[in-house]
Amino acid sequence: MSTELPFDGAIGRFFEDDAPDSIRNAIRRAEKGDILDPSYPHSERMPRKAYEKDMAKLQIELVKLQAWAKQTGARIAVVFEGRDAAGKGGTIKRFRENLNPRGARVVALSKPTETEATQWYFQRYVDHLPAGGEIVFYDRSWYNRGVVEKVFGFCTDDQREHFFAQVGDFERMLVDEGIFLFKLWLNVGRAEQLNRFLKRESDPLKQWKLSWIDVEGLKKWDDYTAAISETFDRSDSDHAPWTVIRSDDKRRARLAAIRTVLSSIPYARKNEKAIGQIDDTICGGPGIWA
Ligand code: ADP
Ligand code: AMP
Ligand code: MLT
Repeated sequence: MSTELPFDGAIGRFFEDDAPDSIRNAIRRAEKGDILDPSYPHSERMPRKAYEKDMAKLQIELVKLQAWAKQTGARIAVVFEGRDAAGKGGTIKRFRENLNPRGARVVALSKPTETEATQWYFQRYVDHLPAGGEIVFYDRSWYNRGVVEKVFGFCTDDQREHFFAQVGDFERMLVDEGIFLFKLWLNVGRAEQLNRFLKRESDPLKQWKLSWIDVEGLKKWDDYTAAISETFDRSDSDHAPWTVIRSDDKRRARLAAIRTVLSSIPYARKNEKAIGQIDDTICGGPGIWA
């Protein structure tokens, strides 16, 4: 399989030739800015003004969170998962916008090297766990084994079983250790995902976000769905629950993600009113995933 970046119109061709009619029609009929998934609980995207107002307050709370973490030595790990183009990168960017980058690291690992492939599967992620005062954002994580590695056959069934057998204990150790652990799953609908890919393909500044995995993955929507469903069934626990956030509207999703983290940590000078309410029509347990 080629590792060349697929800037040759492969996504446009998929849209024309292979996309399900319902998805293609939803995209063709949409007006700019429409929410494409009819099951999304809001019919309109959040207006920019309202979003910016809420986000500005949350940014101040994030700064307080980081100051508190530095003072107390608290450690925070936030795992971002979701299909390609779900909005993981953009959400992490908003989290970090006003933080000191030294204490707010992004961990976005490439595929395992030959040496890493011989290690304990969790080992290279453990290397990047937060030290005291740090917030670490995992842009993809050990959950690759639950989803993308399954869909593309990058691991054996035995390796995957072994992963599910260990992941609950692994996360328990992190939590027992006192690390604040969040597992955020950004959920994007099929039409919105394809629409974002089409935009990336035609935008020279966004093409870097596309990989052959994205192109091949277009045909594997249902395989992803099955792998995601199994991953939730086997890794949602009381000590390390999943938070699922529907991300068809990026603005609502970013606000919900930041609120989820802020509301669960007892940082100093916390302003509950500034944090506001989590929109529970788009944010909840795996039950809201569809
Ligand atoms: P991203 O969406 O994170 O920009 P990709 O869509 O290209 O990147 O890949 C999705 C994930 O699959 C990445 O975490 C990548 O490291 C992983 N991956 C790609 N190829 C392999 C491989 N051969 N074995 C294991 N993991 C892989
Ligand atoms: P972004 O990737 O956030 O720049 O958004 C890409 C495109 O999605 C924009 O050019 C808009 O057309 C549309 N969009 C995203 N969010 C909104 C919104 N809240 N209201 C209207 N359009 C939006
Ligand atoms: C994003 O939109 O940032 C994605 O979730 C990253 C990706 O395309 O895999």
